[in-house]
Amino acid sequence: MSNIYMAGPWITEHEIKTVEKAMRDWYEKPYYYCETFQDEFAAYHGRAYGLMTPNCTTAIHLLLTALGIGPGDEVLVPECTWIASAAPITYLGATPVFCDIDPVSWCIDAESARRSITSRTKALIAVDLYGNMPDMAALQALCDEHGIFLVEDAAEAVGSTLKGVRAGKFGVGSVFSFHRTKTIVTGEGGMLLLDDKALFERCSILRDHGRRPGGPMYMNEEVTYKYMPFNIQAAIGYAQFQRIDELVGKKQWILAKYREHLCGVPDILLNPEPEGGVNGTWITALVFGKSHGLTKLAAMDRLIKLGLPARPFFYPLSSLDAYPGMREIYEPRNPVSYDVSARGINLPGALNLTEEQIVQVCDGIKAILA
Ligand SMILES: Cc1ncc(COP(=O)(O)O)c(C=O)c1O
Repeated sequence: MSNIYMAGPWITEHEIKTVEKAMRDWYEKPYYYCETFQDEFAAYHGRAYGLMTPNCTTAIHLLLTALGIGPGDEVLVPECTWIASAAPITYLGATPVFCDIDPVSWCIDAESARRSITSRTKALIAVDLYGNMPDMAALQALCDEHGIFLVEDAAEAVGSTLKGVRAGKFGVGSVFSFHRTKTIVTGEGGMLLLDDKALFERCSILRDHGRRPGGPMYMNEEVTYKYMPFNIQAAIGYAQFQRIDELVGKKQWILAKYREHLCGVPDILLNPEPEGGVNGTWITALVFGKSHGLTKLAAMDRLIKLGLPARPFFYPLSSLDAYPGMREIYEPRNPVSYDVSARGINLPGALNLTEEQIVQVCDGIKAILA
């Protein structure tokens, strides 16, 4: 049987031909795919503006900068996410405040966020973890009540919807990742989506060394970042985006197959699929119920001994060495994050996964629980 991969893209002749075209048209259309991808990706998500970036981390950094986040400010983030959701807060000299997650969606819990708000809170970053969606209505209401910005980190949520609204349409701005492990892949790449024209203009200047698009040549207005995309990268992304239904469909198929082949296993949780919503399922995660008495590290160790790959559920950010001294403060405040994370693993989710391989993983899970 061929290798089982945790993550990886689905590249076809369409992507290869599109990249070839971008290279052949280099002189005539140096930014064609950047512009087309940005515009069509924004429109697909019901947003007015899109800005492609070198990766999603830079998209978050751009947006938080444009929102005026700086030293002394606090920004709420969920405990369980990739560090990229929070790192740009620190880049700007502001403080990340870690909030607990919901036990079912594994996304930021609105009540925990409410308890974390202080007079310094400027923004809340809601993360659509593994394609799951938080209670956006509650989060938006909370942000409105306290006059703080809602930012949606939809890095993992291409294809997800909540009550008919696509992930990426929530808050003042949203971000996506096209990292080589994601559903739409450009190797490295990201996108910032916005509705507000002034914010879009500000982010455009911040993205290109303080140059105003269309402004006089070499007249930089201020010292900012260089977070421009390039056309070859955008060509891959655009070609993948044209196949979005196929790519997301395969991710959903993977979740459905895991559900089918694990259906007899008691006391486990997989990504939820809320009524009226679609879970784009970047990754299928499995949380072992307490009755199994199994930690994620023990589970992964046993699976790896069977030759099966698995990865840990994200650790609570406050438990990482990157945030020294934070565990003591946050572990008692965020018990769900520490509990769920300790019992969760990610299952293989590469876009070349076959049903035979999924059955093999499920048989492995049944074997380690026997
Ligand atoms: C939730 C989340 N936010 C942000 C990022 C950052 O994306 P990138 O690697 O494109 O910078 C990732 C990527 O892994 C992510 O999973």
